Amino acid sequence: MTETRSLDRPSEAVQAADAADAAEALRAALAAEAEARGGALPADLLVFGADIPERNLQDWSRQPPVRPLALARPRSTAEVSAVLAACARAGLAVVPQGGLTGLVRGAHPVAGGVALSMERLTGVEEVDREGATMIVRAGTPLHEVQAAAEAAGLFFPLDLGSRGSCSIGGNVSTNAGGNRVIRYGTARDQVLGLEVALPDGTVVNALNRLVKNNTGYDIKHLFIGAEGTLGAITRVALRLQPRPAALDVALCALPDYAALLSLLAGLRARFGPGLTSFEAMWDEYLDTITSTFELRRPFAAAHRFYAIVEISRFGAGEDSRLPDALGELMEEGLIEDALIAQTEREAAEFWKIREIVGELRQKAGPLVSYDIGLPAGVTDRFVETSAARVRAQWPDAMHLAYGHLGDNNLHLIVRSAACGAAQPRDGFDRAIYDTVREFGGSISAEHGIGTTKRPYLAHSRSPEEIAVMRLVKRALDPQGRMNPGKVVDPEG
Ligand code: FAD
Ligand code: LAC
Ligand code: ZN
Repeated sequence: MTETRSLDRPSEAVQAADAADAAEALRAALAAEAEARGGALPADLLVFGADIPERNLQDWSRQPPVRPLALARPRSTAEVSAVLAACARAGLAVVPQGGLTGLVRGAHPVAGGVALSMERLTGVEEVDREGATMIVRAGTPLHEVQAAAEAAGLFFPLDLGSRGSCSIGGNVSTNAGGNRVIRYGTARDQVLGLEVALPDGTVVNALNRLVKNNTGYDIKHLFIGAEGTLGAITRVALRLQPRPAALDVALCALPDYAALLSLLAGLRARFGPGLTSFEAMWDEYLDTITSTFELRRPFAAAHRFYAIVEISRFGAGEDSRLPDALGELMEEGLIEDALIAQTEREAAEFWKIREIVGELRQKAGPLVSYDIGLPAGVTDRFVETSAARVRAQWPDAMHLAYGHLGDNNLHLIVRSAACGAAQPRDGFDRAIYDTVREFGGSISAEHGIGTTKRPYLAHSRSPEEIAVMRLVKRALDPQGRMNPGKVVDPEG
């Protein structure tokens, strides 16, 4: 019997033999690293093939899963370093993984490579109340970081809907945004220092805790937002904030986009840094979310736009100024209706309308999501143009608009029910990203590039910027083994 084999697609038997060889090479390289370091490594540091849990095969983008050669789950920086050094010896690719909530396929493993999960590298190591800083291991879930700050009477302001699952290392690696960027900035602004393991295993201790430290290049910024393409972040030094005494939350209904922008300006003028969230929702968004999830509609009447507003109060015993401010803005005709949460539970109900969108895929089926950066002044016109272009090709398309409007960040969810499981992602991407370019926006305000947006990087970055990115990538990862295929092609 003769076996037919295509030259560029090895047979399953050959692939299995290659995988067995590669696994053996990795085991041997790790053993050599352990010996060189004078200590044994835990037997469960690596798992191979079919033993790798399904959850590690894909991120929240839900692109088709990829089974890597091996999964590494280190418990310390030293183990991360050993795994990276072993992969360097064996010439294997490495993909860092945090909480796997990324939306751009950045943490998807590569076939034949090693997924380096931070899920066991967890824990808050130190909280300095007086200095208002914290040292935390990279795999620690965001909500644990928030809780540790709170327990110390302080506040960690970074906040995303995925807070229960995403890791602080992933947040830093994606330079995550979220709900409070308008006041506190992105993940980058919360980071004072980092510890990073380079692709060859070298550990760089840049765990600065000083607010001011102008001593040469500030290398932490290279790794923040690099999406794991330059090294693996192992520990993070964070800046903490004073804890607000109270959060006032309101849901406002508005007649048109001009009123939405005027509400934002009016609240900024009245509250300054006290305005800590401003989230916008278009009517199609609110209609779809309330009906899909069977949530109570907040207002009896239908309105064109909605906004969730959060005001932080710091003085204990200080009364809320939000009712008076909203009353004034209503008299000016900007607000048609408004609800002010009287309890934390009511505030959570308002936020639920905004955050439950993360579960829409499970209810509605496959969809494509976008995080676009745009000047707020043109965002409404952009939404109309984008919806018209998408619907010119897919007339039944859902085109939901919402987002962190106070940070120039629009989210879109696009889905054609008629296309079922085979959503035309490439077609949606072309229509939407070409429109982003025309409007002078960014193809990613917060989720990053990963692989899904890599073909469009040049829509938002100049050739010279991309050339510098390539220089940096080649300098830190000369073999191109660190999260290959993500963000930027090192060769171009
Ligand atoms: P992963 O998905 O595991 O990885 C993301 C990227 O970082 C990958 O490229 C990976 O290789 C790299 N990486 C992870 N850990 C490390 C490390 N230790 N060292 C080096 N590289 C690493 N994002 C926002 O910005 N704002 C939002 O408001 C927001 N809301 C969301 C709501 C929901 C419901 C969901 C599902 C996602 C949301 N996201 C949001 C996206 C996502 O949560 C963020 O991108 C988050 O920062 C990813 O963290 P993670 O730990 O899950 O990273
Ligand atoms: C959000 C995610 C998608 O803000 O970034 O809901
Ligand atoms: Zn967002």
